[in-house]
Amino acid sequence: MFVLSAEVGCFYSARVDDLFSSPITASTCYCAVYGQPIRHSASPAMHNPALAELGLDWRYLAFEVASDELGQAIAGAKAMRYIGLNLTVPHKLLALDMVDVLDESAETWGAVNTICFEAKGEDGIWTPLGQALGQAHGEVRAKGYNTDADGITLALQQDLGLDLAGLRVLFLGAGGAGRVAALKLAKEGVAELHLVNRTRAKAVDLANEIRDRFPSTAVSVGYPDNASGNVDLLLNATSLGLKVDDALPIDENQFNLSHAEAVFDMIYQPAETPLLAKAEAAGCRTANGLGMLLWQGVKALEIWTGQSAPVEVMRDALSAHIYGDG
Ligand code: ATR
Repeated sequence: MFVLSAEVGCFYSARVDDLFSSPITASTCYCAVYGQPIRHSASPAMHNPALAELGLDWRYLAFEVASDELGQAIAGAKAMRYIGLNLTVPHKLLALDMVDVLDESAETWGAVNTICFEAKGEDGIWTPLGQALGQAHGEVRAKGYNTDADGITLALQQDLGLDLAGLRVLFLGAGGAGRVAALKLAKEGVAELHLVNRTRAKAVDLANEIRDRFPSTAVSVGYPDNASGNVDLLLNATSLGLKVDDALPIDENQFNLSHAEAVFDMIYQPAETPLLAKAEAAGCRTANGLGMLLWQGVKALEIWTGQSAPVEVMRDALSAHIYGDG
């Protein structure tokens, strides 16, 4: 049987219906993602099958929340004893000042993409609400995490088999997502980071921040010298490739793709950007950014539940939602 969702105007198959055969009751718990815009978020499609697979009577919702109402929306979820929240554009920086406590991950990367509501036990210990539902009537706090940075390194490990320590990396982009990714690569011990960005000054600022925080990584602005050997990884963190008529994010006069062992594009829609197509033709191992989305979600779910997430269920659900191949 198929169900038509009037809100999004699309059909869900009977297989998906089966996952949600348990009815919502007064004891059902909730997680949600907040963003603006939110209509295209893949997070509910990824998390709800995972919650069903874990046998949890939880649901994962999505809400369009304006920046000037984010504080109220977080407080509302806390008052209603939500298990947790994910935050997406444009809320990740704003939320730093809107949670009660920051996990080290959020402090390190300067952004919150996951909130876990925690209950205070009689012993004074804070426990995620999802693991202490009996304590939901007591004091509750919002703890902010960042799972995006781990999502990047897990995707590189899982999809490209990369152990980052000691690698040479050509890194394209210095925007919000690029900054966290480049810093995380440095924290993981890459040996060389060559930063290239349209606005060179932003690459220079990022290079300085990396030198300050992770001095064992040799960072420079500009393309590496082809004569000095291959790079182990070329990573695109620019938005070039999202649109069909976008230019390549690299200058092929300055860098030949045959000098990259592996190419990762943070873009996942389209599944194969022109950069990835060219890289594959040049013999590079390639992966798109779907794994980042998957692994940040896996980490968030594990924070909320305290259990291992059903990664393959989430991967299949995400892929089916985005590429329609389920
Ligand atoms: P995000 O949060 O996704 O990182 P962002 O902070 O706007 O978004 O960063 C977008 C990145 O793509 C930046 O590195 C940007 O380069 P600038 O710093 O020069 O703006 C890059 N980018 C966007 N459009 C581009 C274009 N037409 N050519 C080259 N780089 C581009």
